[in-house]
Amino acid sequence: MDKVRVGVLGSTGSVGQRYVNMLRDHPWFELTALSASASSVGKKYRDASKWVLDTGMPEWSADMSVVAADPKEFRRARVELVFSALPSEAAKTIEGEMADAGFAVVADTSAHRMDADVPIMIPEVNSQHLDAIKDQKRKGKRGLIVTGPNCTTSGLAMTLKPVQLSYGLRTVLVSTMQALSGAGFFGVPSMAIVDNLVPYIKNEEEKVQQEVLKILGDYKDGFNNAKIKVGASCQRVGVLDGHTEAVFMITEKAATPEEIASCMERFEGEPQRLKLPSAPMPPIIIRKEPDRPQPRLDRMAGTPERARGMATVVGRIRKEDALDNGIKYVLLSHNTIRGAAGNAILIAELLKAKDMI
Ligand SMILES: NC(=O)c1ccc[n+]([C@@H]2O[C@H](COP(=O)([O-])OP(=O)(O)OC[C@H]3O[C@@H](n4cnc5c(N)ncnc54)[C@H](OP(=O)(O)O)[C@@H]3O)[C@@H](O)[C@H]2O)c1
Repeated sequence: MDKVRVGVLGSTGSVGQRYVNMLRDHPWFELTALSASASSVGKKYRDASKWVLDTGMPEWSADMSVVAADPKEFRRARVELVFSALPSEAAKTIEGEMADAGFAVVADTSAHRMDADVPIMIPEVNSQHLDAIKDQKRKGKRGLIVTGPNCTTSGLAMTLKPVQLSYGLRTVLVSTMQALSGAGFFGVPSMAIVDNLVPYIKNEEEKVQQEVLKILGDYKDGFNNAKIKVGASCQRVGVLDGHTEAVFMITEKAATPEEIASCMERFEGEPQRLKLPSAPMPPIIIRKEPDRPQPRLDRMAGTPERARGMATVVGRIRKEDALDNGIKYVLLSHNTIRGAAGNAILIAELLKAKDMI
């Protein structure tokens, strides 16, 4: 099989580095364009990027020259699919230009998530929303845009889906403890977070609430939100990678903690059925110990090797007696892998498996 040539917008950032790392030796994709802001253009990737991953920068990427976020540059590199890890302001224009120029764009940014014909995709949860792409094409778009969710929505929607399918969901409340890498390289000053936490992340609670409803809703001539009440409280904590979330829910039908654990454990989606290269087997891992999941111990969960960091880890599933049909649990999801680059690569694999790129 010929490899699909891909490029990364925002390749020097927190999420961009994850792409470069996860695309090394990818069986279906070859990375041929690395792009960043004007101040990085023309530099070698090794000089433009402050590499922070413990795996080391892949050698082939170090000598690549960083190019402008311009469709002409991506065409020159014969790119077919563009991954976007841009700040959302820049993404609004650049992702649109790339799609208009005929590229398939898979974006981690919020710029187009709430557009009427753009899916927010977690391939295990809502692969049927790819129907929206067929409608994008029908309306005459040359390229296409698919987005991944906010890093906080990712693990939450993944664990809600099996419960929604088996027992129905009425209300979901979540309180988050979010990692520093979620704010990008220059996001949170060390003086603000060492010996501290910050109980506010701009726009985050609104994003989680809206995105969960779109992802868990259906698509029929447009997106129809799920009929669930969702509330979020988001906190930044001094953890490098991995978002932890304490979830409280009211189900439609009563379920025991064991039944909730079992439906999550058995859950799988199209990536598992199609055996996509980055699909975690299984997508949700249940821990029985009373003190798990923990970011340092569990954020890289996921098998096979290519799916490390792609599994959502759930623990402490128990009854919440203060609520009728109440259940509570704790989840952990790697924010720059499952919440960004890894999820986007899985979307691209799904598009390829379905002959949509
Ligand atoms: N971090 C996460 O966990 C996470 C999860 C899900 C989604 N996201 C989303 O992913 C996106 C990237 O996040 P991040 O944390 O990786 O950010 P980041 O570390 O700040 O990186 C931003 C990247 O965009 C480039 N850039 C900035 N302005 C640009 C412009 N005007 N034109 C072209 N390139 C530009 C930067 O290049 P230079 O190096 O040259 O400045 C850098 O490569 C954001 O939209 C974020 O909301 C992040």
